[in-house]
Amino acid sequence: MKWIVLMIVMIAWNSFCRAGTTTVFPSPEYRAVMPGSFVLPEKVRCAELPEKAYWATYFREIFLKEVGAEFKKTNRTGVDFRFVRDTSLEAEGYCLRVRPEGIVVTAGGEPGFFYALQTLRQLAEKEEGRGVWECCEIRDAPRYRWRSFMLDSGRQYQQVATIKKYLDMMAALKMNYFHWHLTDGKGWRVEIRKYPRLTQVGAFVSQGPEQQGFYTQEQIREIVQYAASRYITIVPEIDMPGHSEAALIAYPHLECFGQVPELPERGFTHHIMCAGKAATLVFLKDVLEEVCRLFPSPYIHLGGDEAPKKNWDSCADCQAQIRQYKLQNSHDLQLWFSAQMASYLKSKGRKAVFWGDVVYQKGYPLPENVVVHWWNWRGHRDLALRSALRQGHEVICGTNYYTYLNFPLTPWNEYGKDRTFDIRDSYENNPSMNRDTSALVLGMSCALWADGGVREDMIDRRLFPRILAIAEQMWHRGDYLAFEQFYGKVKEWKCWFERLGYTFGPGLRSEVPEDYKWD
Ligand code: ACM
Ligand code: ZN
Repeated sequence: MKWIVLMIVMIAWNSFCRAGTTTVFPSPEYRAVMPGSFVLPEKVRCAELPEKAYWATYFREIFLKEVGAEFKKTNRTGVDFRFVRDTSLEAEGYCLRVRPEGIVVTAGGEPGFFYALQTLRQLAEKEEGRGVWECCEIRDAPRYRWRSFMLDSGRQYQQVATIKKYLDMMAALKMNYFHWHLTDGKGWRVEIRKYPRLTQVGAFVSQGPEQQGFYTQEQIREIVQYAASRYITIVPEIDMPGHSEAALIAYPHLECFGQVPELPERGFTHHIMCAGKAATLVFLKDVLEEVCRLFPSPYIHLGGDEAPKKNWDSCADCQAQIRQYKLQNSHDLQLWFSAQMASYLKSKGRKAVFWGDVVYQKGYPLPENVVVHWWNWRGHRDLALRSALRQGHEVICGTNYYTYLNFPLTPWNEYGKDRTFDIRDSYENNPSMNRDTSALVLGMSCALWADGGVREDMIDRRLFPRILAIAEQMWHRGDYLAFEQFYGKVKEWKCWFERLGYTFGPGLRSEVPEDYKWD
């Protein structure tokens, strides 16, 4: 008899409690579904919420509207939503308990409450326009502390509303750093008051579609605030000494020979900022001074990628600098130059992020506030990762294969077959995955470069659905579903993201119609 009762209990438990189902993107660590549901009343009773916390404002002003209800403060104990701080949880971690009488959200810190609300948004069903949730228990926390998305606003200019659209996407996918590539050969996009020609001239050097424009300091402050209210830190990138033709066209005295460079047709040219002239360092420190005032981020990205040394090798000033500091060659000069800029940021209490190029060869020592952004898997495999860890630097993993989401699935424009990949590649073969065995690995990034003229209306179809695979890798702590199962969930969830205004492109190469237009 005892056995029969036990069997009945086990069968009942299995049919009601489906632990670990993936119905949220990215998947929570643990989820168990229970019988019953919670139906949101029109006026949501809730104890007073903290006045200044962004998540509380988000709950009252955005979340409740989305699920068809209004906020009503109550001092009574019978409430629909209860928010409880539990400092034993991580700051970004949270637990959810949905019962027929209400929802209890427990979180370690403010971001945890915000991420719990993102999860609830995705789980909400609607009855007569009002939110309904299946009863469940969820425990969740991120795998990586750094989960970033990079947008290239240097080569292409995107409107403020578009930047906000992708900050909203990041919030829904629980990403926490927006790496904003603000300068490149084809455009300088951030207003610097001390050097007005950077935007008067540098923001308009390129004539292609959507390649003119810049962000005023007022707009930047607005965007920084918009991001902060979604627990996203904006990490601005001022690329130096290369990828700087737009700045050099505005201020040619910073080029080794004072030449006004041509615009890069593809990628970059050998016209880079002269590291031998005191004026260059003064200029860049002034720029960073304003950048630090605009962006409160603890991290400032200084680029450092793809800086050909043709000019430095023959520039009298650069060569004199090499002799003065007993450097080995022009690469070593870049390390010396990078160290000066990183030290300047250190004096402002910030860390300097550089692309992995700065650790390809040994040389002048970089200060300890340098973080290395590993990217060039195609060219150098894991060289930058290994060198950075050996030198004791923190690392962000953002390998071009398979996190550069501007690469299309099939050839387009300057992207040949070897620069294509699909969601299966991202999900199964991303070299940035499983690199967190060292405490120095901060996390993972993904990027949308604008090479080849990726205009605003092309961005969604590059990002979706592949960014869902990357978000899963950044956040999810538990076991990973087999690709077919994961992709099945992606397809089920397409309409949720479409409702928010994101358009999906094809996910698999085999799904791309022969005449598909990426532009
Ligand atoms: C890069 O892709 N040049 C960082
Ligand atoms: Zn020079």
